[in-house]
Amino acid sequence: MRPIEIAKGIYEVGAVDWNVRDFHGYSTEKGSTYNAFLIVDEKIALIDTVKKEFVGELLRKVSKIVDPKKIDLVISNHTEMDHSGGLPAVMEAIGKDKPIYCSKMGLKDLSRHFAPGLNYCPVEDGEELSLGQRTVKFMETRMVHWPDSMFSYLVEDQILFSSDGFGQHYAGPERFDDEIGDAIMPFAKKYFANILWLYAPLIKNLIDKVVKMNLPIKMICPDHGIMWRQDPLKIVAAYQEWCRQEPGDQALVIYDTMWHSTEAMAEAIVAGLQAEGIRAEPMNARNTHRSDIITAAFDAKALIVGSPTLNNGLFPTLADVLTYLKGLKPKNRLGAAFGSYGWSGEAPKLVHDELVAMGCRMVEDPLKVLFVPDEAALEACFEYGRRIGQTMQQA
Ligand SMILES: Cc1cc2nc3c(=O)[nH]c(=O)nc-3n(C[C@H](O)[C@H](O)[C@H](O)COP(=O)(O)O)c2cc1C
Ligand SMILES: [Fe+2]
Ligand SMILES: [Fe+2]
Repeated sequence: MRPIEIAKGIYEVGAVDWNVRDFHGYSTEKGSTYNAFLIVDEKIALIDTVKKEFVGELLRKVSKIVDPKKIDLVISNHTEMDHSGGLPAVMEAIGKDKPIYCSKMGLKDLSRHFAPGLNYCPVEDGEELSLGQRTVKFMETRMVHWPDSMFSYLVEDQILFSSDGFGQHYAGPERFDDEIGDAIMPFAKKYFANILWLYAPLIKNLIDKVVKMNLPIKMICPDHGIMWRQDPLKIVAAYQEWCRQEPGDQALVIYDTMWHSTEAMAEAIVAGLQAEGIRAEPMNARNTHRSDIITAAFDAKALIVGSPTLNNGLFPTLADVLTYLKGLKPKNRLGAAFGSYGWSGEAPKLVHDELVAMGCRMVEDPLKVLFVPDEAALEACFEYGRRIGQTMQQA
């Protein structure tokens, strides 16, 4: 519970949320952190706050460095409540009239979150604010991942405070990239796949813009997880790669089942894919958290989705995953649908239509099996898997 001096006079003063396991529907198996930063210069600035319930931790950390009343200004890079929930209590502690610098959209969004009476100061993209010896340069990063989002760049120290960009939901003994190494990358990828995937084209443009600006970057400090100080460009390079949305060579078979018929189909399809040399695995949508399915889908070239028919419709877990996946706007994926049914059998076609709606190129007609698949039906599933495997090799 101590602040970390990340550079001379610059401290991480946010909170570690060791216990959060569900972050707005995203499974955070290793918790998360809400990073906030105190810059002690002629003016003292606080960048972002924390979730409301952690504001005490933030203020205690600040108090170990300066009296919170000495904070001159707050910078709000992002209105979402994991970074702004603590703002009203922080303003009470430091003085309600102190300026809160935010983007123009931040002004709108913050005003819709909190009671009136706070001193919002909207800034332009590229505007600079002097803290005395140091300068903060604001960069609008609209829709990465909210309309209000912005980065703050500390010019003299060459530190980019990147809000949710380059972040990961991870709470552990390590706080910096050199302490954890590559083990952080799956967390960063899960964050990208679940939160940023749909904005990949915008993020690509943003990174291109920053690269053109030729900003020297010594450190990237996101608002979640590990701070990148040893090799900050490593996560930038990973983002450039992820923005290309080029899947791996593998197939993902996502399904659920009530009486194991759709499950038997899924396993036979996987066997067919494997027979063609395709790496494939079945993933039960009731046993695997939706956010982990998304991470697996991010890497998969083919999304093969099976649902039993329940009351003329989709099984709810598949409706959940398909709705979530569609919103993330996957690109460059092949698709196929299947499922067992008992009389009306709507689900496979509904899955098919959802995959079409999210832009998958469908490689097979929906495959349906009446009740329990017999040997011939399982053989048909195996062949269906093989055909998809062959198409994948050509795609
Ligand atoms: C509560 C319930 C509702 C069902 N509703 C339908 C339905 O509306 N139309 C249909 O074709 N089959 C329906 N079925 C039958 C299942 O789709 C069928 O049993 C199928 O083989 C289940 O596949 P599974 O073992 O993968 O769950 C229903 C089954 C249950 C248990
Ligand atoms: Fe956010
Ligand atoms: Fe966040």
